[in-house]
Amino acid sequence: MKAIVARDFAPLDKLEYADWPEPEAKGDAVVIGAEAIGVNYPDGLLVQGLYQMRPETPFVPGMEVAGKVLAVGDKVASVKPGDRVAALMTHGAYAEKVAVPEATVMKLPDGIGNEDACALICGYGTAHHALKQRGELKPGETLCVLGASGATGVAAVQIGKAMGAKVIGVASTEEKRRVAGEAGADIVIGYENLKDELKRLTDGKGVDVAFDPVGGESFDALSRSMGWKGRLLIIGFASGTIPKFSVNLALVKGFSLVGVFWGSFTQREPEVYAENMKELIGWHIAGKVKPVIEGTYPLAQAPEVLKRVLGRGATGKLILKP
Ligand SMILES: NC(=O)c1ccc[n+]([C@@H]2O[C@H](COP(=O)([O-])OP(=O)(O)OC[C@H]3O[C@@H](n4cnc5c(N)ncnc54)[C@H](OP(=O)(O)O)[C@@H]3O)[C@@H](O)[C@H]2O)c1
Repeated sequence: MKAIVARDFAPLDKLEYADWPEPEAKGDAVVIGAEAIGVNYPDGLLVQGLYQMRPETPFVPGMEVAGKVLAVGDKVASVKPGDRVAALMTHGAYAEKVAVPEATVMKLPDGIGNEDACALICGYGTAHHALKQRGELKPGETLCVLGASGATGVAAVQIGKAMGAKVIGVASTEEKRRVAGEAGADIVIGYENLKDELKRLTDGKGVDVAFDPVGGESFDALSRSMGWKGRLLIIGFASGTIPKFSVNLALVKGFSLVGVFWGSFTQREPEVYAENMKELIGWHIAGKVKPVIEGTYPLAQAPEVLKRVLGRGATGKLILKP
């Protein structure tokens, strides 16, 4: 079968569309025929050796897959060939077929398509965990989302609205601001004069919860725009700069800096992760959240697609199809 193979940690151009061994249905393994594969910003970091974990090389990147069960191992009881499912992986999803442990497989209800199922896993899963367990967002609170048209950002906008917050989306271009507005942000602004704008929009009180997948200079502005008892959620550093933080700001403004690591959360708290996914799927079926799928591309185009995601050129979710 074909897969996208990283022979070594290297720039995205070095990824190969190549032959890769067929997965086997042994023990608790479920073999899935991929119909949609989610592209995530961290996939691009992983192949360059810039992510928190480094798999043994050569390896296949990719963490989200949805499709039909093709075969199951003799210990598998919850799914059978023909079932439509989605799965979360540490890596390995950029392939025509994957083998995953039964415990990581979710059966998909009829109301949810394969592309949307992929988007709900990492993008929406991260935003949901961040706002619910880490940010403890409450109805009526003000939520500020940076990168509000990106995969995690647009999810945070929709989930923030589903949780009853007033959402201020921040994005860099007209087109991206349009996407954030259509996703439900109450107010959408650019990054210019961010600190003053957030002060004005919150009548001087500052924001209750901030969702920051960008880092860099906009983190500095956010850390000076937090309200009393606010929670500044550290999601990622898409700007490429990990900011430094003056801890006196947390003292003076009485707010908390809260780290969010969704991948670790899924492994350390699998029951809570499963509950979260159930809630997200319920919200999707009820029409409260609807992934923004920018486009679907052939699996072989993964390097170009990843380049666009890491180059600030994408909105919402991008999907690969074998
Ligand atoms: N903590 C976790 O558990 C977790 C989970 C998933 C992802 N992440 C991390 O969160 C970050 C964002 O992920 P994502 O899936 O939302 O990515 P994405 O879809 O590419 O969105 C990132 C957003 O960041 C903004 N950005 C600002 N400067 C950028 C630059 N120099 N290059 C690229 N984007 C830039 C862009 O919006 P504007 O142009 O509007 O600024 C873009 O829409 C990544 O660092 C990723 O590794 C963390």
